[in-house]
Amino acid sequence: MATQAIAHELILAERMSRLGTETAFEVLSKAKALERQGRSIIHLEIGEPDFATPEHIVEAAVDALREGWTHYGPSAGLPELRESIARYVSRTRGVTVTPEEVVVVPGGKPIMFYTMLALINEGDEVIYPNPGFPIYESMINYVGGRAMPIPLHEERDFAMDVEGMARLITPRTKLIILNSPQNPTGGVLGRSDIERAAEIIGERNIMVLADEIYSRLQFEDEPFSIMSVPGMQERTILLDGFSKTYAMTGWRIGYGVMRADLANQITRLMTNSNSCTASFTQRAALAALEGDQSAVDVMRAEFEHRSQAFVYGLNHIRGFSARMPKGAFYVFANISQTGWVAKPLADALLAEAGVAALSGTAFGKYGEGYLRFSVANSMDNLMEALKRIDAWAKANLHG
Ligand SMILES: Cc1ncc(COP(=O)(O)O)c(C=O)c1O
Repeated sequence: MATQAIAHELILAERMSRLGTETAFEVLSKAKALERQGRSIIHLEIGEPDFATPEHIVEAAVDALREGWTHYGPSAGLPELRESIARYVSRTRGVTVTPEEVVVVPGGKPIMFYTMLALINEGDEVIYPNPGFPIYESMINYVGGRAMPIPLHEERDFAMDVEGMARLITPRTKLIILNSPQNPTGGVLGRSDIERAAEIIGERNIMVLADEIYSRLQFEDEPFSIMSVPGMQERTILLDGFSKTYAMTGWRIGYGVMRADLANQITRLMTNSNSCTASFTQRAALAALEGDQSAVDVMRAEFEHRSQAFVYGLNHIRGFSARMPKGAFYVFANISQTGWVAKPLADALLAEAGVAALSGTAFGKYGEGYLRFSVANSMDNLMEALKRIDAWAKANLHG
């Protein structure tokens, strides 16, 4: 197809230069391009469960389509789903949540975007984990906030250092982002760390975005939410959803739980952008929350088992080492002994070993020295990936 000559320069809004990205999608398309050339690639780059959505959830969606759940619904979500989420969050976080405090959105991600749009003024400071989910930093910069990263350390099993957080708080701090279990490190913030974080915040009017999208995929101990700390509920925006828990990444559904006055504002942003989340998807999500939960337990056990096997294997490869994650489905491997910089190493493993992984720097500057491997792939593929990485290391790393 002939490309048309462009007569008019594209002049973007200045803010677009501040927008970041999520590298996983770029690496995925690079890996797919290699596959189209006939190369065999093992996909350990993308953060989504390899399991199928449980059958009863799919059935609920099919029924909903047949019953005519194919129209617009309320911007904040279907009342029956908001009620179900309110009950679920009340039960799991030990607080009282009303349906008016729930906003259903297409995925967990929009809650990040809407929270920043609703709360952050130019120059307001946002504290967040680094390495961390890249969209936090992207959104902070996009809305004109000041990004205040907290480095995560392997020696602490990547649990955020809350005393370090204390040192970053200033009168301009507007929002603190907590993520547990954490992407990309699999680190978990335990109850004592979270209670200490709440103590440090004290009576300051700082909001907390608690990203708990992996809360059902924590391997040990019950997850603990800052929302459960007395006095913190009105300053917490809980982000949770269905993508990871029920293997529903492509359905696009998640939710935020927050004080009702903020929920109204987030709903206005929904009305201005998406109008509403797909109605039949919401009916499926209702079936997910109210139905049999055994599939979640199976997936969590499987992710833990695969993580153990993958960590064990990596620790036997020259130059690589890894700690056992405490949740989610990622292994954040230390590659400093390879002598390589993370991004070129990820590129080399993709091009030369046929293993797609992400550079730790895709999650922020403090991710240097690490690669993220997603274990959301079959045990056979994980073992094959280890074999390929081992062969690559033997051929390319010396000493
Ligand atoms: C920490 C974290 N929060 C939120 C999300 C977004 O999830 P969703 O696909 O539901 O938008 C992800 C997805 O990778 C994530 O890793």
